[in-house]
Amino acid sequence: MKHRNCNMKSILVTGGAGFIGSHTCVTLLEKGYELYVIDSYVNSYPTSLKRVIELVSKKDKSLSRNLNVFEGDLRDSNLLQSIFDKSRENGNPIDSVIHFAGIKSVAQSILDPISYWDSNLIGTICLINTMNQNNCHEIVFSSSATIYGNTDREKITEDALIKPVNPYGITKMSIEKFLRNVYDSCQEKWKIANLRYFNPIGAHSSSLIGEYPKGEPNNIFPYINNVASGDLLSLSIFGNDWPTADGTGVRDYIHVMDLAEGHIRSLEFLKNNKPQFLNLNMGTGKGTSVLELIKTFEEVNKVRIPFTFGERRSGDVAKLIADNSLLKLILNWEPKRTLEEMCKDGWKWQSQNPLGYK
Ligand code: UFG
Repeated sequence: MKHRNCNMKSILVTGGAGFIGSHTCVTLLEKGYELYVIDSYVNSYPTSLKRVIELVSKKDKSLSRNLNVFEGDLRDSNLLQSIFDKSRENGNPIDSVIHFAGIKSVAQSILDPISYWDSNLIGTICLINTMNQNNCHEIVFSSSATIYGNTDREKITEDALIKPVNPYGITKMSIEKFLRNVYDSCQEKWKIANLRYFNPIGAHSSSLIGEYPKGEPNNIFPYINNVASGDLLSLSIFGNDWPTADGTGVRDYIHVMDLAEGHIRSLEFLKNNKPQFLNLNMGTGKGTSVLELIKTFEEVNKVRIPFTFGERRSGDVAKLIADNSLLKLILNWEPKRTLEEMCKDGWKWQSQNPLGYK
């Protein structure tokens, strides 16, 4: 048995090696939490967690001892149970979960919905089941703004119509509904926060960790980075006839380190408050078009991003901007980093790690 500080909170982080997971792990470790990370590495690399250790060790060598890593899939209930057992053996039982694990390509989900339902839904059901069996009833879940679908609203509030337009979004919506049923089954027990992410970009300012998707990237920022590095000749902008000011898609980009901090704020809020079920928009409340994003990236990083206009992409929406009033009210916090910082940190990561985690 390891000897633990009994005041230290112990958290299971699913998908902790991924883009948002790894950044959140750094922030959690720096705050003194003990982490049990489970990751299958289907869309991430073990190296990201090695870098997390490197990063936190710079601050305090002893912090790295608080990271326990397990390779595997959430649908493996025996593995999940063994992680809870391990935390008990270590004298510091897991008492909450941050659930990042899942697959997230909109395009892939249209081609292969079976895998999306299997991985995202079944994985979450196994997780909740094991949590319940281990008397752990606190969870922060990675949901997505994609569940809102098409909207005419300038900014979207959490009570807006939920109407996702792609299978990936439908799995996220379904998990939220499943979690609601679980909460309703025993409202005096469960503490659940669904964080509806808008568009996370950027990287840790150390440039030791960042976004490095396996296979072809799906999101705009890795593409812009690849064009900036010369790996791609130009960016294809998906449509210039959207009903937006310049005709290109508008999104609410949020710095991944703000998002990491948002997870910790949410978790601490749950810990300090009565059982409840919470939906929170994780966005800045500022809309940026594809053309504006390219312009900012070019100006901040002094690089050129050639682009062409292509067809609209299936499953896309014109505009998605968070109304983040609830976030500010409930957590007494809001994202602080600017679009310039997102572009700067994101490019620094790419330019210093041209091969990502390879
Ligand atoms: N875009 C391009 N060219 C590209 C890639 C994207 O023009 O090569 C455009 C899109 O059309 C969109 C904007 O850039 O207007 C952002 O696209 P992303 O693919 O980066 O992000 P999405 O908003 O489509 O989706 C992301 C995540 C989802 C999440 C959603 C929430 O990928 O997981 O944000 O809004 F659900």
